Parts: sequence; C-alpha cells; structure tokens
Amino acid sequence: MRYGFFDDQQREYVIQRPDTPLPWINYLGMENYFGLISNTAGGYSFYQDARLRRLTRYRYNNVPLDMGGRYIYLRDDADGTYWSPTWMPTRDDLAEYTCRHGMGYTRIGSAYHDIRADICYFVPLGETLEIWDLTLENQSPSSRSLSVFSSVEFCLWEAVDDATNFQRNLNIGEVEVEGSVIYHKTEYRERRNHFAYFACSEPLAGYETQREAFLGPYRGWENPLAVEMGECSNSLRVGWSPVGVHHIRISLMPGEKQRVIFLLGYHENPTAEKFYTRGTQTLNKRTVAPIINSYLQSGVVDQTFCDLRNVWDDLLGGLQVESPNEHVNRMVNIWNAYQTMVTFNLSRSASYFESGIGRGMGFRDSNQDLLGFVHMVPERARQRILDLAATQLKNGGAYHQYQPLTKRGNDAVGGNFNDDPAWLVLSAAAYLKETADWGILDELVPYENQPGTETRLLEHLERCIQYILDRIGPHGLPLMGRADWNDCLNLNTFSATPGESFQTTTNRDGRVAESVVIGALFTLAAHELAQITAIIGQDEKSMRLQGLADGMAATVRRFGWDGTWFLRAYDHFGNPVGSKSCEEGKIFIEPQGLCVMAGIGIKESLAEKALKSVERHLATDHGILLLQPPYQSYHLHLGEISSYPPGYKENASVFCHTNPWVMIAEAILGHGEQALDYYLRINPSKREVMSDLHRCEPYVYAQMIAGKDADHFGEAKNSWLTGTASWNYVAITQWILGIRPDYQGLRLEPVIPLDWDGYRAVRKFRGVTYEIEVRRIGSGNQVSISVDGEAVQGSIIPETGNDHVKVVAALE
Ligand code: BGC
Ligand code: NOJ
Repeated sequence: MRYGFFDDQQREYVIQRPDTPLPWINYLGMENYFGLISNTAGGYSFYQDARLRRLTRYRYNNVPLDMGGRYIYLRDDADGTYWSPTWMPTRDDLAEYTCRHGMGYTRIGSAYHDIRADICYFVPLGETLEIWDLTLENQSPSSRSLSVFSSVEFCLWEAVDDATNFQRNLNIGEVEVEGSVIYHKTEYRERRNHFAYFACSEPLAGYETQREAFLGPYRGWENPLAVEMGECSNSLRVGWSPVGVHHIRISLMPGEKQRVIFLLGYHENPTAEKFYTRGTQTLNKRTVAPIINSYLQSGVVDQTFCDLRNVWDDLLGGLQVESPNEHVNRMVNIWNAYQTMVTFNLSRSASYFESGIGRGMGFRDSNQDLLGFVHMVPERARQRILDLAATQLKNGGAYHQYQPLTKRGNDAVGGNFNDDPAWLVLSAAAYLKETADWGILDELVPYENQPGTETRLLEHLERCIQYILDRIGPHGLPLMGRADWNDCLNLNTFSATPGESFQTTTNRDGRVAESVVIGALFTLAAHELAQITAIIGQDEKSMRLQGLADGMAATVRRFGWDGTWFLRAYDHFGNPVGSKSCEEGKIFIEPQGLCVMAGIGIKESLAEKALKSVERHLATDHGILLLQPPYQSYHLHLGEISSYPPGYKENASVFCHTNPWVMIAEAILGHGEQALDYYLRINPSKREVMSDLHRCEPYVYAQMIAGKDADHFGEAKNSWLTGTASWNYVAITQWILGIRPDYQGLRLEPVIPLDWDGYRAVRKFRGVTYEIEVRRIGSGNQVSISVDGEAVQGSIIPETGNDHVKVVAALE
C-alpha cells in the first residue's frame, strides 16, 4: 500500500494522507541553519549544532507521536471552529490534504470548511532563518472572518540542559516583543550574544510568549485556550516556558486570497553591541532588522524560493542518468543524492531517531558521508576533510566524534575504535579522485586542534596507516580496540553492568581480539595511499605502502578465511567469530563485501566463494542480513551485538549500510545482474508499494530493515541519517553504472544487467560535462569507448580540452 506518490518532475514526494505509518520527514536548510519537518509540520530547528544551539523544543518519545512543531491554527471567528491546516495538532478531518516534500522545502496544504491553506516552509540560501509562507483562500460563497495563530516553543539553547535543568531553566526564559516580532533572548543578558526571532508580516491582534498562557492550564497543543477563545492575553513574563505566538485577524471575500509570511530565525550581535543602548537589557536590533524586513516581503520570498530550486538544479546536475529502471533513475537523480547532502551536513546528529543530543559529527561516519557528496560541492568536502583531520590524535587515532559548533573532538561518546583512521584515507582518496586537487595534501593541519602541532595533511594520512600498524594482533591482523565499523561487536568490553554504554564504558586494552574488517580497510587504505604517493613522486613511500597492503591481504587470506567465506574476527580468547565453527553468528556480511572491495582473494577465487555464501546464507527478499544465525542470548565476550533481539540492528537485521559493499563486490567480479538485484531489494522507491510493511519514508534509506528472524521482517527503522545513503550512491553510480572518478580521470566501466540495452547519463567532472551513452552490443562487461567520435584505449576518458564531451561506450 502507498501513502502518496513520487512527482519526479517537481522532485517531490507527495503524501496524500496525514496518518503515515510514522512521521515522514524532510530537512530544511543546508548550510548553518537546519530544521526537521514532518508531513504534519512537526519537528524543530537549530543553528549549526542540534545540541548546543537548539532554537525550538521537540519532545522525543512523546505521545501522541510527533506532537510539537511549526503549527498554525485557523479559527473561523463567526462560529469559533478552529483547526490545523497541517492536520496536527488538532487532527480534524481535512479535505484535500497533501504534503509535498521537496529539495530543502516542504509544502503542506489542505482545505477545511471551505478555507484553503497552503504553507511552504524553507530556509533561504545563505541565511540563518526559515520562512513559513502561508496562503489562505476563501473558497466559500460568503465572506469570512478568520483568526490565524502561529506557534513555536523556544528551547533554551542547550538541548540537554533544556530537558533536564528545570530548577534553573524555569527562571531564566526571556523574550521581547516589538511590532510583529517576538524575540527569544534567554541568557542574552549574560554570556550569549545570539537570540532567536519569530516575525510576522501582518500587524498583530495579539501575541503570547508564555506557553501556559497560550495553552491554558492542563491543556495541550491540540486545544490551546487562546485559540479556543479567539483572543491572546499578550503574556510577557520572565521564566517558565517561552513560546512565540502571533494572532492576526483576516477577512476574506469569496474567492479572495491572502498571504502571510512568518520568519523564525537566529541572529548574533557583536559582543560590544549586544544592547540597544548601554545600561539597558533591550536587544540591539540594528543588524537583524534589515534581514527581517527584507524576508517579510513576498517578492523576496518568491525570489529566494526560486534561488533554492535553482541551486538544486545545479547540485543534482552533477550527475543525471536515464536508465531502463525508474527506481534507479529516481534515487540517483533526486532522492539518494539529496539524502547524501543531508547525511553530509548532519552526520548522525538529528533525525526522528537521533535526538540531536547524543552525537555530533562522527569521524568514521563523516568520512563515509563524504563519498556520496563530494561531486556536488567539492569545496565543502575539502573543508570537512581538513576539519576531521584537525581532530585527529597525534598517534594517528581519532576522536570518535566532534561537535559541529566548536569543531572540537569529543570523547564523551566513546573512543578507541580502531577502524576510524582508515576512513580518513578513503575520504581523502575520494576527494582527490574527484578533484585532482593535490594541493590539499600540503595543507597544514593540527592534531587535536592544538595550535603548533600542524603537519601536512599527507602526514595525517600516513599516521592513520601507522596507527593500525602499531596495533597488530597475534595473527598479524589489526587489533579490534573497542570495535571496528560494527560498533556493536565489542570484543574487549565485557560489560555486565545494566545500562552501561557499550560505546563509552572502560574497555580492556585487548591485545588478542583482531578484526578482519580492519584488515580489509587497511588493505584498501594503504593501497590508496600508495597510489597517491606514487602520483606525487614519493616512490619509496609508495612501494612501502603497497607492500603493506599486499602483506595484509596475504594475512587476511591466511588467517581470515574460513573455507567458504571470510571470517569476521578473533575474540579476546583467540577464538574465531563469524566462522562455521561458531554456533551462532557463523557468517557476517562486512568482511565478504569489504575484502572483495580491497581485492583480497579475487585471484585465488575466494571472492567468488564468499559472495556465493552471501547469496546462500544472508540474502533475503528485503536485503542482505548482517549475520546468520542471529545471537539468541547475550554473550559477555561479544557485547552490544548480542544485546539486540534476533533480527534487529546489528544482530542480523538487513543493516543497509553493508549491502552496497556486496553490490560493489559483485560488480567487481562482473556480476551486473546480481549487483542490481541486491540494489533494488533495499531501494526505497522500489519498496514504496509496501509502505505499510516498510513504514519509513519511501524516498530515503533507513539504517535497517528488520531481518527474517525478527517478528516484523521487512519493517524499516532509523531513516535518513545512515551511511547507507552514501554507499548506495557509490555502488549504483560508480560500480553498477560504472561512472567512477579515478586519480587519472573519469573511468567508465559499467557492470549492468543483461536485459539493459544501455543507459544515458550526464556527469560533470573537473569542469567538463560528459554526455555519456552506454550501449550493450554483447553480453559481457568489456567496454570500448569513443570520445567525440574517436576511439580511445582503456576505460579512462582522456581529457580533450573541450568542456563538453560526448562519450559512447559499447559493452560486449
Ligand atoms: C547502535 C549502533 C551505533 C552505536 C553508536 C549502537 O547502539 O546499535 O548502530 O553505531 O550505537 O552510537
Ligand atoms: C551506526 C554508526 O553511526 C556507524 O558509525 C556504525 O558503523 C554503524 N552503526 C554500525 O554499527
């Protein structure tokens, strides 16, 4: 069953009923100001950092689900009827409800009692504010008098403190109202120089700034007293819970329309100019006033909305494909690319499954998120690589995450993940392949953000390799540390204390537990760095690195092979994990994909065997399981992985992040059919028809789909912020469609299924637009390329000096 449809022309998903199985959300903003918005206008906003600069409150775990957001109430002043045009929070039986989630905006529209309301929410480029652009239309034959109420609930900035430190916080809330603007300025009197504002284009009939005054005692958002009465009390008190509510009155003749603009924004004043005049506590509005005045004009709103649409034309224009499969086209051209932008911006910080207070920018995660995004805005990817490297430890290791606002490493969410450094090499390699900006290797970057510790980025990458080399176990494989990519395979943790975090609790300094996955990552990373150093003329270094990669590959073949698949690890006692000799967890997906990607065992036919085993033991109709059989009970020596009920999360769900590794591996072995088949099993658009089972948004990937051992096999969870976005983008575009950036240029090596007679694509790469046409003329993957009509050798498209190039690839 479907709850809406894809409008690919508009690049929108159109939701046709408000009661989706879960809130189906979208993101507003792509630079400094962000908002989460659901299909019924739930959600919240923040500046840069969802934890440290939260503008509005949101209650996770609330009932009813998704209560609280950017609500507008309409009231018929003739009879007192009131309703929410976004369905929530009043949940009336709306006519013509639609929600259109688009690229950086969400439009929600509906009709009720012959009043049509449409609201477009978006963040203008370059600004730290969001616009709610409301249009009302009287569709009845008589004139109507309406009240409009807007509402937001302010967060007192630091989201953890806001949700916990009530003895202080109920005393510090402060607001100011001037004209039609409500300013939220809690703690501005002391150390903050930032404030929020909520503005309205119309003169006010009244306002509220106290939640209790607006809602009335013991009431909720579904029946605010002020809305019921049609009158605000102009509350203005210190403390308690500050809100922003505008009340405006509107009369509409039959057929008449009126537009009302609301702005919710964030602004900073220079510390010396915080106040209107010295000695007062009145906000200095001199620098914010022009911004507010400008965006309250409908012409400016229209123009900036148009600018936003155009930016997405450009961003998505970096790669557009026309293949025989609509789900491929839609995801590559629109939604998967869009999701990679969101994961790049937000890492795992804020979604409807990530509270915004737990994690900032993950080291491992951000390096991977960059892989799918780098071609869209290479300059931002460059900065991200430098920011991540600046948090690196001197020994080459990493803080597992950093706060976006401060860009400082933060080990409150754990450390000692021995795979972390490898990912920095892989993201830097992806950046170099896309841009050939070799200068980045010479950038001076500090360690742990400490001035005076700067070295060239190249040395950071070398230290990444060295970090792993310094931690080798008894079989010559890398030591596990707290965990590798799989955060939940905790072989040194031995946690027996209820509630203790597997991510942060004291870990043994394990000298035995080893990871085949880090072995594969090391092989990949050392191989990339060997190529990079060769290109910049450091031959000796390059040879050493290639030797290290080859050596590790040999070790994995020797000690990481279980007969028909790659082993996962050795535990604290030196026993294998992910082996046929285990009772549970006999086979894991990660090493099968990653080892083949690292080229391990291809010549020796181990790769073929490993992938056959994946098909046999792990593949299901809903995607490829992380492991089989699942752990049925908690194992002290395995950690969090065995804490999940069978079929969920790391314990044998379809953990979608890992599936593209197998797709890539299949493509490397030339199996186009199988690669695309796996791709389509988890493709959200393909799964749209079973939305009642899948339940998460059909336009973005979720972290997991419950596995066959779960009681809800096929149900997705943890949508939006997942490495799945980038890796699926890489798998389909670079390995199946085969349009793959390489150090020497753009490579074209499609590995597509037999029943595709080809495809067309436009790819912008290093300033050149490549118009690509792939034609299948035989049944294999052998590619012959011609560029502007001339046959060329090999699969790398040579530079022609032209900035528009036509490439034809024949596959036989
Ligand atoms: C989850 C992992 C996640 C980790 C880090 C665990 O509870 O299962 O998927 O990587 O937390 O936050
Ligand atoms: C989610 C985490 O964000 C990521 O870093 C990790 O690799 C996966 N879970 C697997 O545990």
